[in-house]
Amino acid sequence: MTRKPLRSRAWFGGDSKDAIMHRSWMKNQGFAEDSFDGRPVIGICNTFSELTPCNAHLRGLAERVKRGVLEAGGLPLEFPVMSLGESNLRPTAMLYRNLASMDVEESIRGNPIDGVVLLVGCDKTTPALVMGAASCDLPAIVLSGGPMLNGRVRGEAVGSGTAIWRFSEAVKAGQMTREAFVAAEAGMARSPGSCMTMGTASSMACMVEALGLALPGNAALPAVDSRRAALAQLTGRRIVGMVEEDLRLSAILGPAAFRNAIRTNGAIGGSTNAVLHLIAIAGRLGVPLSLDDWDRLGRFVPTLVDLQPSGRFLMEEFCYAGGLPVVLRALAEHGLLDREAPTVTGLSIWENVRDAENFSPEVIRGFDNALTPEGGIAVLRGNLAPNGAVLKPSAATPALMQHRGRAVVFDTIDDYKRRILDPALAITPESVMVLRNCGPCGYPGMAEVGNMGLPPKLLAAGVTDMVRISDARMSGTAFGTVVLHVAPEAAVGGPLALVEEGDMIELDVAGRRLVLDVPEETLIQRRQGWTKRPAPSSGYAALYQKHVLQADRGADFDFLVGCRGAAVPANSH
Ligand code: FES
Repeated sequence: MTRKPLRSRAWFGGDSKDAIMHRSWMKNQGFAEDSFDGRPVIGICNTFSELTPCNAHLRGLAERVKRGVLEAGGLPLEFPVMSLGESNLRPTAMLYRNLASMDVEESIRGNPIDGVVLLVGCDKTTPALVMGAASCDLPAIVLSGGPMLNGRVRGEAVGSGTAIWRFSEAVKAGQMTREAFVAAEAGMARSPGSCMTMGTASSMACMVEALGLALPGNAALPAVDSRRAALAQLTGRRIVGMVEEDLRLSAILGPAAFRNAIRTNGAIGGSTNAVLHLIAIAGRLGVPLSLDDWDRLGRFVPTLVDLQPSGRFLMEEFCYAGGLPVVLRALAEHGLLDREAPTVTGLSIWENVRDAENFSPEVIRGFDNALTPEGGIAVLRGNLAPNGAVLKPSAATPALMQHRGRAVVFDTIDDYKRRILDPALAITPESVMVLRNCGPCGYPGMAEVGNMGLPPKLLAAGVTDMVRISDARMSGTAFGTVVLHVAPEAAVGGPLALVEEGDMIELDVAGRRLVLDVPEETLIQRRQGWTKRPAPSSGYAALYQKHVLQADRGADFDFLVGCRGAAVPANSH
């Protein structure tokens, strides 16, 4: 039952010159006459790329989606969009998240599409596609590519990303040979799929499931599990139903969906990058969402999922334990889930998960033996971060959550790289490492460098963590007592720009404070001597720096915030 005319009919319907032209050119692909008889056209928005290894298997999944679309009576049409590979793309994939979202938005709106399947995987591909689709607000459903099989190195289960931080510091400290490190590379990536820790890719796969945008089970099924292919088929079937019901993103992504996702991120020990992405997605639909919502909603959510980098296990174990539906059910049973939130299934989120079973309480723990009692994202404020900064308590060292120390300041990431190896660097385990000019404007794209490696001389002495503060991001696979996303950033004159070597800084996570213990008059004097760095005058970097919002607003472009809808554009033929 189609309740409203399909927008694809504006292209393919009738016998006008334009309609004939639209159908005729499509027939060069071998479509039969009745392919354009009024069946829903389903776009399959694919981030496949061999340069995005985490998404390199998505063409196979797209075929499974098509099978489902055809079974349900739709016409599947696959199209590529810009793919963002975290491991290869320089300077950082985040620089292009907003650009990719524009590609997605305009590709959907400008084409004869009635509903869309978003094929995602690697970190930024998920938010980019959801942001772009949200600004069009057609029926849309997400299918993630799924995580790689667990890494295996010399009999040890090894997590992608997370282990790299540990191994590279071990190499620096002389505790691991280069040969062993190189051998670990292959063992860490032994199947198609995305990082199999609870890094940003897995976190975002959980986020779309918690938001109600993906079928239950989407987050955890390994990429190579045949049930992932079956899920793709079901996703293809379901999007046709969503078009018939006119079930749009805006009907699913209300405030309740975001509340559920924020609490879920706490329960899974999810990535700090999710903070930026969810705020940006909400902004596309005009749903109010702030850093304070993250702190308020997530604060008392315990981390239940014992996965690296916060815990021990990997995504395969999470899948075998029952996956995200188990977590959502547990949250609901403790009053931490808006049960009535709608989802792509047409059912409420509670109806989706109420029968979920936990097959491994060691991997998905109970509230009474949580991995971390307060697993959400801590939002810190103070004169060093007037608009907020974030810290992930489950990845931090408890003894450092209340800390005072003298600042060791790195003005840029290059400055850090130049000085960190110097044995003469004046730094102690009590020091607070400060890195600036790495925020959205300062290092366009807000690089994942906030978890700066510790100085080799302290690593060799057995130091494993120090307080680190920056306006940068941190990989979701990283860990440490790391304050991130300081806003406003140094490059636009935020207080981080005024910190000097030896200043006393206080971190108080319980009190949610981040304080630069320097008199206000001194800061005013320092500000008079501060000058803004020159910005690029051309190219995408210039557009980016001119329009990117600060981290507390999701680092979206100011001109992309909001929903522009999917009205059929005029035809100029
Ligand atoms: Fe793609 Fe980690 S590098 S998911």
